[in-house]
Amino acid sequence: MTLPGLSNLTGLENAQVLVRLDLNVPLADGVVQDDTRIEAALPTIKALLDRGARLALCSHLGKADGSPDSNCSLWPVAGFLAEVLGMEIPFVEDCLAPDRSAILAEHQVLLLENLRFHPGEKANDPAFAQALAEGFSHFVNDAFGTAHRAHASVSAAPSLFEKGYKAAGELMEREIQALSRVVNDPAQPFVAVVGGAKISTKTAPLEALLGKAERLLIGGGMANTFFLAKGLEVGRSLVEQDMLDTARAVMDRAEALGVELLLPTDVVVADAVSGTGRIEVVAAEAVPSHLLIVDLGPDSQKRYSQALADAQTVFWNGPMGVFEVDDFAAGTLAVAHAMASCPGFTVVGGGESVMAANKAGVEDRVSHISTGGGASLQYITGEPLPALTALEE
Ligand code: 3PG
Repeated sequence: MTLPGLSNLTGLENAQVLVRLDLNVPLADGVVQDDTRIEAALPTIKALLDRGARLALCSHLGKADGSPDSNCSLWPVAGFLAEVLGMEIPFVEDCLAPDRSAILAEHQVLLLENLRFHPGEKANDPAFAQALAEGFSHFVNDAFGTAHRAHASVSAAPSLFEKGYKAAGELMEREIQALSRVVNDPAQPFVAVVGGAKISTKTAPLEALLGKAERLLIGGGMANTFFLAKGLEVGRSLVEQDMLDTARAVMDRAEALGVELLLPTDVVVADAVSGTGRIEVVAAEAVPSHLLIVDLGPDSQKRYSQALADAQTVFWNGPMGVFEVDDFAAGTLAVAHAMASCPGFTVVGGGESVMAANKAGVEDRVSHISTGGGASLQYITGEPLPALTALEE
């Protein structure tokens, strides 16, 4: 199946188009803190406006759970969008408001309030989808970050539109193009870097990457569970006791497939993740019982950087340590720099790794930075993304 893009849409002049974006951006006191996702949505908005369409933009934001929640209002995003697009953008306080069409007849773009203020969104309720789609002739989904959710605005709603009247936006297409290159045709050596706190959230992607990568570099809190599975002491470090068998299975499969699996050989340990108190570097076999692991040590940084040096493909998801604390960021930053310097095609798979790439200042030297952490991990596993299925059918 090929994903229909904007070029497959016909009759856009003056058409009222429902555009699903992922405008789930961090807010503080009503101010947008990181506009990456808004910026990423602009090419599709502009392309549709250039073709004369009228756009009702919609999204979720935050942890809204089926009823209005002022902390999760998209209102601040409307102001931000109006400024960057240089046009008035009316904000419609209920995504199902009956006057949406009338407002759009007077304006080129409007923004609907948080979809998740209605329980039908997360429930993928057909009646909610029908009400949301009412009055629109076309549907565009550019919300890659939400593509793994079987929610009404990305699953049931697009199913109501015929071929030629629904499409993926430019961001969605770029994301899929980059990730499919990693999944379907990775140039070797393909080096996968997986970090972050937990194995439990990344078991399927780890399995999938083992079948494709030549090297797998493990870091962050999840490395502790691998250490424990190998019989090493990890002091007071975060571990997932119920994931020891999974960690063993990953190591066994890596060996069986001839994948080089790298774990840290030395680590930074500390009294607390806050960065206060004692900090030292120890061998991975010598973690004191009263301390916890917070970063890769210098020898591990060197080994991981060397493993990335000749990479022709890199997929990176999850930091190598508690990188938010400057004293514990060296491992994550070393990996970010090594990835940026390698000759290959490099993809940062959303979430915290994006913040880490930004902190390292390498964002312009990475081939693709994904706007969707969960969605890119699900794509890597080969499991279908409900949003794509609904556009393709
Ligand atoms: C994200 O931030 O990962 C996406 O917007 C999806 O949000 P969700 O995890 O609340 O579904």
